[in-house]
Amino acid sequence: MIVIKNKIAIGKMATAGKFLAEICEKIVLQVQPGVTTLQLDDYISMQLLKNGLVSATKGYVGYKHSSCVSVNDEVVHGVPSKEKKLASGDLVKIDICASWNGYCADMARCYFVGEAPHNNAKALVQAAQESLDKGIAQMKVGNRLTDISSAIQQSVESKGFGVIRDFAGHGIGKRMHEDPEILNYGEPGKGPVLQVGMAFAIEPMITAGSYEVYVTKDGWTVKTKDKSLAAHVEDTVVLTENGPEILTRL
Ligand code: MF3
Ligand code: CO
Repeated sequence: MIVIKNKIAIGKMATAGKFLAEICEKIVLQVQPGVTTLQLDDYISMQLLKNGLVSATKGYVGYKHSSCVSVNDEVVHGVPSKEKKLASGDLVKIDICASWNGYCADMARCYFVGEAPHNNAKALVQAAQESLDKGIAQMKVGNRLTDISSAIQQSVESKGFGVIRDFAGHGIGKRMHEDPEILNYGEPGKGPVLQVGMAFAIEPMITAGSYEVYVTKDGWTVKTKDKSLAAHVEDTVVLTENGPEILTRL
């Protein structure tokens, strides 16, 4: 069941989203060679606390952290670790989901460590961002759910990149994960008709190679099988009378 959000709920999600967007901007300065992914998570925990946000991932089926930090061929759900030190040239994906007064926003961004990244890495990140925008643009009253999915897949594949099949976006509200599941691939014109008050976390996960992935021994971290570079971006979006409103951008 897709929960329709009222103005009050949307207002709370928007506050959560604004704070997350600010944190994602501030973290640029922290993403430096030599910094561990656990240090980044500690920084994020501190920022959440400072803004009155409650992490939605800490305690989620045993997950212990305020963020997922995924490096290079890690796609999503990278577990912050004091053993994982960032190096110049790394591509880092940071994903944070947190609530404000009971309502969540979920957001992920890509960051480059140190000196100028390789062209292919830049193109991959740009493709992820563009596909997210193309997906969000389909969030219109009367459109159907998989219009979003199809737009993302077409955008990514037109640039020669692969779309991960095993993980998806999701509805969001009081809980981090609500109905519906939002695949990043598929035929358009299927699934529920989109209505005002629906709130979605749309999150294309893409790779420079094959879309096949596996979960590592830690039980969380998702990596590409062929070790190809992966990008992931995510925004929380609510459908209003005036079209999609992105809650996680400033
Ligand atoms: N924020 C992630 C998402 O977009 C959820 C991460 S699940 C975790 O769905 F438990 F690993 F954090
Ligand atoms: Co999400």
